[in-house]
Amino acid sequence: MKKDKILVIGACGQIGVELTLALRTIYGVENVIAADLREPNQLLQGSGPYISLDVMNKEALWELIVDNGITQVYHLAALLSATGEKNPQFAWNLNMQGLLNVLEIAKKEKLSKIFWPSSIAVFGSTSPKQNCPQQTIIEPTTVYGISKHAGEFWCNYFFMQYGVDVRSLRYPGLISYKSEPGGGTTDYAVEIFHHALKNKYYECFLKEDTYLPMMYMPDAIRATLELMEAPAEKIKVRTSYNISSMSFSPKEISLEIKKHIPDFSITYKPDYRQTIADSWPQSIDDSTARNDWDWKEKYDLATMTNDMLKNLKL
Ligand code: NAD
Ligand code: SER
Repeated sequence: MKKDKILVIGACGQIGVELTLALRTIYGVENVIAADLREPNQLLQGSGPYISLDVMNKEALWELIVDNGITQVYHLAALLSATGEKNPQFAWNLNMQGLLNVLEIAKKEKLSKIFWPSSIAVFGSTSPKQNCPQQTIIEPTTVYGISKHAGEFWCNYFFMQYGVDVRSLRYPGLISYKSEPGGGTTDYAVEIFHHALKNKYYECFLKEDTYLPMMYMPDAIRATLELMEAPAEKIKVRTSYNISSMSFSPKEISLEIKKHIPDFSITYKPDYRQTIADSWPQSIDDSTARNDWDWKEKYDLATMTNDMLKNLKL
């Protein structure tokens, strides 16, 4: 069993639940503290320590870290792209100040490693649509994307100026069955499975030909753990790494689901999230992550769909 003591902030969210459970198998149940504003998710209840925390309360966060001998922080609390557009000032405050609180404490307490996720939302409509490279024009148009872009540079700054070992991934849209998504533009790719199984019908909030980069949660969790385990000298990007595994449109995923549920049908009623999706790349070039720390995905659209339906039917 590894020795670190870990804090997961935003542990009750779509990624946090699965990441906390995965970290507990590696570091031991008592050594991974789940923290969130919300009550513990059902899957986390009874699975290990949980502390109610608002990441905006820097003093409380600091005390928690010192009192519990925390050495690593996974900071996941944020407002995502769709909810962020509804309350831009709140999204900016949470996404920026939460990160700065974590980075400042990491510097002062000399924490060994920090993980903070960025997103494909850093890219805007002036970035390449296909195979969007690691380094390119970055002009985000959502408050979420602006906060992620600024956050990437704060991470790089704390690494360069103070030696804080902070690591980051630009996650694509994540698809999971254990926990619900929390207000993103890519959430349709999770909702569609629940509706297909329940009603055999889904009304999609994006147009049928809207291609976006996506990833199955087991790949995202493995990518996170592999990035954090990699020797520091292999981590050459201290803003955030592009990672990728698949790209599909609502029509393509609906056809894949139809192979399992032949009478499933879909209609399209695009809303404000269409503009957000249209500003993002359709696919991502993640060759830098592949070269630096050997990233490789396991799931594609067909294997992900099969696994989602199998698990949601249980
Ligand atoms: P989520 O919305 O499902 O979960 C976020 C969690 O943070 C929630 O449980 C929420 O209660 C908690 N939280 C909110 N404010 C808080 C506060 N002040 N203090 C403590 N906890 C607070 O989000 P997620 O999908 O799990 O995303 C986690 C991170 O990954 C975010 O930074 C997000 O931007 C990033 N990301 C997610 C995706 C995705 O598709 N899910 C893609 C790219 C990047
Ligand atoms: N899945 C996220 C969103 O749609 C991307 O960061 O907001």
